[in-house]
Amino acid sequence: MNKPHGAQRLIVPLDVPDAASAVRLATQVSGQVGALKVGLELFNASGPAIFGELAASELPIFYDAKLHDIPNTVAGAVRAATQHGLWMLNVHCSGGAAMLRAAAEAARAAAQPPLLIGVTVLTSLDAAALRDELGVAAEPLAQVVHLARLAQACGLDGVVCSPREAAAVRAACGPEFVLVTPGVRPASADLQDQKRVATPAAAVAAGADYLVIGRPITAAPDPAAAAAAIAAELD
Ligand code: C5P
Repeated sequence: MNKPHGAQRLIVPLDVPDAASAVRLATQVSGQVGALKVGLELFNASGPAIFGELAASELPIFYDAKLHDIPNTVAGAVRAATQHGLWMLNVHCSGGAAMLRAAAEAARAAAQPPLLIGVTVLTSLDAAALRDELGVAAEPLAQVVHLARLAQACGLDGVVCSPREAAAVRAACGPEFVLVTPGVRPASADLQDQKRVATPAAAVAAGADYLVIGRPITAAPDPAAAAAAIAAELD
């Protein structure tokens, strides 16, 4: 796989409540970022028609679907989603090996196979929540590496992880595995509700391929200029 560089690494989440706002934001950042992310809020507000509406931006689309169900149901959802010409799609690794294999098989069979990415451990879960609420004894870092290895063995192309986990996943899964990291903040930016953050350059140094960066770009007075400034900090 060709590894991304500079602005190609930036994925902007369209965390807005309707299609018109999403298209406006996509138009603003087009040319300055590598891809757009459609998450559950926008998808449920606008339906799959949003993928067609974003086509004018000419940016690849990451559908952050976070699928998690029995293998047959996830395979069907992957088949349906891939008809929209997606660049990247994700599923929860905690669905287990049979689910991950079914998802990978469905993705590979698509006319335009997307990169299939696994969500490891949500960054909103800490060690206490994993242990006391979910009954997972492993520390978050060990659990992330465990799930990344599982995803790789089942044929996924990569995982989502925090920048703080990227180096360990890179060491475990090798140079070709695709690492997508949210929780990235330029040194000068407000952290907002993100707690475990890294700067863009630190995330890349840790092994991240793609950085999901939202509010430092989308809430800036000039989103295109903010994206260009971040891209200039990379590589
Ligand atoms: O605005 P901000 O840069 O915090 O946005 C980060 C994006 O990445 C949001 O769309 C958020 O839902 C997503 N995300 C995250 N942490 C994860 C997984 C996804 O912040 N662990």
